[in-house]
Amino acid sequence: MKQTLITETVLRDAQQSLIATRMPFSDFEGILSEMDKAGYYSVECWGGATFDSCLRYLGEDPWERLRNIRTAMPNTRLQMLLRGQNLLGYKHYHDDVVEKFVELSIKNGIDVIRIFDALNDFRNIKTALEATKKYATKNTVASGCISYTQSPVHTVEKYVQMCKELKEMGFDTICLKDMAGTMSPYEAESLIKGIKDAVGDMPLVLHTHCTTGMAYMTLTKAIESGVDVIDCATSAMSNGTSQPATETMFYAMQQYGINCGLDEKVINKVNDFFKPMKQKYIDSGLLNPKSMGTDSQALVYKVPGGMLSNMIANLKDMGAMDKFDEALAEIPSVRKDLGYPPLVTPLSQMVGNQAVVNVLMGERYKQISNEVKNYFKGEYGIAPGPVSKELEEKILGQGGQPTDCRIEDSKRTGEEFTRAKEALGDLARSEEDLMSYICFPDQAKKFLEDRKAKEENVCTYTIEEA
Ligand code: CO
Repeated sequence: MKQTLITETVLRDAQQSLIATRMPFSDFEGILSEMDKAGYYSVECWGGATFDSCLRYLGEDPWERLRNIRTAMPNTRLQMLLRGQNLLGYKHYHDDVVEKFVELSIKNGIDVIRIFDALNDFRNIKTALEATKKYATKNTVASGCISYTQSPVHTVEKYVQMCKELKEMGFDTICLKDMAGTMSPYEAESLIKGIKDAVGDMPLVLHTHCTTGMAYMTLTKAIESGVDVIDCATSAMSNGTSQPATETMFYAMQQYGINCGLDEKVINKVNDFFKPMKQKYIDSGLLNPKSMGTDSQALVYKVPGGMLSNMIANLKDMGAMDKFDEALAEIPSVRKDLGYPPLVTPLSQMVGNQAVVNVLMGERYKQISNEVKNYFKGEYGIAPGPVSKELEEKILGQGGQPTDCRIEDSKRTGEEFTRAKEALGDLARSEEDLMSYICFPDQAKKFLEDRKAKEENVCTYTIEEA
């Protein structure tokens, strides 16, 4: 019997996509021991925006959340998403910080580390990979992840080449990450067959979103083409901007004669558990009905849905909605000038903002954002395709070249840890506290102060009672 396994994303990407990562631990604590019996390939439960959201909005220690999930799910592979050298934030961190972050992630319970770089510049995922190998336990899986996008330079051959590189680098599995949900069934077929031919023995994972309505068809073709793992979300938290439904794929695969290893009773219990949660999120306004529908605009405009709504909001703010069509048409041109970067954070904002500026100024690149300047200087990594020479010269000067060395190469000084210790004093009680501060200084400090205050209150209260 053929096999395709399922990664359950409800605790990370599904809730990140549908309710802006606002699901507190207490909302899902009660189902973890049941989920542990489901037979998922893995449960994605950490990384991405969960870390920031725990500290910033939920008053939770992200490390403690991970340890609690680990304790409740001793038999399941726990998975996280890591943005390579950016970790879980939006800037490049030093190598020693990346290494320590990976070490602590594994120590606190992570098994599968899915590592990607927005530009697919693999120099930016190398340190995280090496750290994963260094601190690996027998359950650790290093998954090399490719940001999928469509452009004249993103051919099947190019993706196959990337997969060969990931294999040579030493990754255990490969993941294709279609964050915009624009991969069509036939693209999936040619990609997966091509990749399987080239690196057949390496497990291949497909991650997509239902945003454009394409995902179920794409997953079906992917399964036919031999994909090893697909990402799904329990029905109550599936579809819309989230992943396809776990239970639906389970029933479809059964008829296909494909074993996905899931226990039918258990996955239905999981879904039953999240149904009232979903209703709660709808009632509170956290879950916007718009996120639950299908939005095919991304297929029409080749622009991810989130980027389009950002642009509309910006234009409305400036009272310039009459420039909408022009700005929309400018996005592909700016993207071409930048060498076709995948339109994912932070590139989507960069391209979108520059397109709006170009149109509002009535002259292209009259004003160039600092982000675009830094991009041309090479600070984000290597552009996927050739960039506009004219624009490059405008930014770097005649004969100017982008830096070709990774900016964090030589920095292994521990200075960030020293600075964090000084800033936190006795607020920090662990390496994990220091790491939270290094990643999100303001939010972490506030969280640690609140934690201390809470404990002092509890303490006073106890004494009074006595
Ligand atoms: Co995703």
